Amino acid sequence: MRSVRMTEELWQHLLSLREGSLRPVALSACVDGSGLSLYRPIAVRGGPLVLAQVGQSLDGRVATPTGDAQDVSGCDGIAHLHRCRALVDAVIVGVGTVVADNPSLSVRAVSGRNPVRIVVDCNGRMPERAKMLHDGGAPVHVMQADDVPLRNVRYRTIRLPRQVDGGLAPRDILAALAERGLTTVLVEGGATTISRFVDAQLIDRLHVSVAPIIIGSGPAGIRLSPIDRLSEARRPEVQVYNIGTDIVFDCNFRIEAQQVAASADREDVLMADLA
Ligand SMILES: NC(=O)c1ccc[n+]([C@@H]2O[C@H](COP(=O)([O-])OP(=O)(O)OC[C@H]3O[C@@H](n4cnc5c(N)ncnc54)[C@H](OP(=O)(O)O)[C@@H]3O)[C@@H](O)[C@H]2O)c1
Repeated sequence: MRSVRMTEELWQHLLSLREGSLRPVALSACVDGSGLSLYRPIAVRGGPLVLAQVGQSLDGRVATPTGDAQDVSGCDGIAHLHRCRALVDAVIVGVGTVVADNPSLSVRAVSGRNPVRIVVDCNGRMPERAKMLHDGGAPVHVMQADDVPLRNVRYRTIRLPRQVDGGLAPRDILAALAERGLTTVLVEGGATTISRFVDAQLIDRLHVSVAPIIIGSGPAGIRLSPIDRLSEARRPEVQVYNIGTDIVFDCNFRIEAQQVAASADREDVLMADLA
């Protein structure tokens, strides 16, 4: 496990990468390599990136059964989440999170820009009194199905085709954001929203930030389509980071995808040899 020590020098370097600076803020030789390895892949403007982040307890819960989700993560887990927000163009949550937590999705624990806020609200149940609609912060876009009756609302809606499963296709969501120049995104939750992106194979990296508490019951941070055999379980490449109060598992799904493709190739060769 690697330990992350964030310094102002490293953070300013990452923010300059995020701005696409041709001359990023220089780093001294003693800079923390772990912090660079955890955050650089999010900060660099090399192409589209979809990051998901879950802050959970040791037993994989994100809230109590009554919905208390405050303070699952420790202070360093919160700072980590805010760093992730500051390094992306847009942050996505499902309308369930807006109803349950009324979040502002802004960057407060660190310096940096607030991301554009995206709410996936297929059926038009975004609360008019949601904090993010009234705080004067970054723009809010609400994604709705194109068959939902138009209402006179105070937020911008992006209307997408409803899929046969009744939902919106995560690929359509990303394409609509890319059209607006938002190409690096953080899918922040809840489980329904993250799971749709994971099932659609659209997550590049997943950060699972684990706090040393046991809640014992309550909703999980990720809920995927059921599998029968453990051999079907997702096995991304994982790097583990001690960030202080919490431990971050940085899961790289792109390396998993490459390994799956390589093993499929090996099976093809084996079948050809046997034929
Ligand atoms: N600890 C963390 O990291 C973290 C972060 C965020 C949230 N949370 C917790 O997560 C819980 C909420 O999670 P949740 O799973 O119930 O709700 P959610 O994922 O926030 O929202 C789910 C709802 O969003 C809409 N939605 C999302 N993606 C969609 C898609 N692709 N197509 C169509 N509709 C889509 C649907 O609305 P309709 O049902 O109206 O169709 C769906 O029911 C809260 O307790 C919150 O505290 C934890």
